[in-house]
Amino acid sequence: MTTRALPLKEPPDDQVERYSLTERIWHWLASLSYTYCTLTGLALFSPYLYWLAAVFGGGPTIRFWHPWLGLVFLASVVWMHGNWRDDLRLTEADREWRAKIGSYVENRDQELPPQARFNAGQKLFYWAMFYAILVLLLSGIVMWFPERVPRNLIVILPVVVILHEAAALISIGAIIIHIYMSVFAEPESLRAMVHGKVSRAWARNYHRLWYEKVQGQRRPAP
Ligand code: HEM
Repeated sequence: MTTRALPLKEPPDDQVERYSLTERIWHWLASLSYTYCTLTGLALFSPYLYWLAAVFGGGPTIRFWHPWLGLVFLASVVWMHGNWRDDLRLTEADREWRAKIGSYVENRDQELPPQARFNAGQKLFYWAMFYAILVLLLSGIVMWFPERVPRNLIVILPVVVILHEAAALISIGAIIIHIYMSVFAEPESLRAMVHGKVSRAWARNYHRLWYEKVQGQRRPAP
């Protein structure tokens, strides 16, 4: 008896590339380095969470690697900034989308204005992370080398620590929304970040301006 294999993927013609391999590698580098920094940072933040240190090799080990992985995260955000900045810039059109955020939350997508590559919510997430990483970087460098802080400025150290923690907590709030929206609320987004492609129907539905632009680029010149 012969069995016919069911097609596991849609035919390529039904799909459109959303993220190149390079884009996906940098994104997952950001995710891994950010996750490491968050979990080890939480271990250093509260004695109640210090058990997390044991998971990553102990206190001295995470104290050593936390700032280095922070630099890897910084590098990936710098890469995103250099390559996605134009797509992530907030525009006048985003105001309308933000005014109709209720329709987005309640899945009444047909009431929303057509979107380019990223919607206003995705852009706001990025900018929250961007400013958080700036504060994390500046405060983190001071905390990395506390012995280099001049004696007469040592009083600023507790303020620097609070700034570092506040920026980390803001980024954690932002990432929870990011993961919820892109993994659970919109599973095809996750597929895009894993395999690089989305269905044409998804692209048309959620990012029509971007889809039309990509389509235009595919058309042969007259
Ligand atoms: C930690 C786990 C993470 C998961 C599971 C995750 C998942 C995803 C997914 C599925 C997408 C595709 C969304 C779409 O095209 O519709 C995406 C996009 C994106 N991710 Fe992440 N991500 C994570 C962490 C991060 C981190 C740490 C950053 C750092 C800035 C980041 C920045 C972005 C940006 C800028 C985009 C494009 C715009 C957007 O969709 O928000 N991600 N992510």
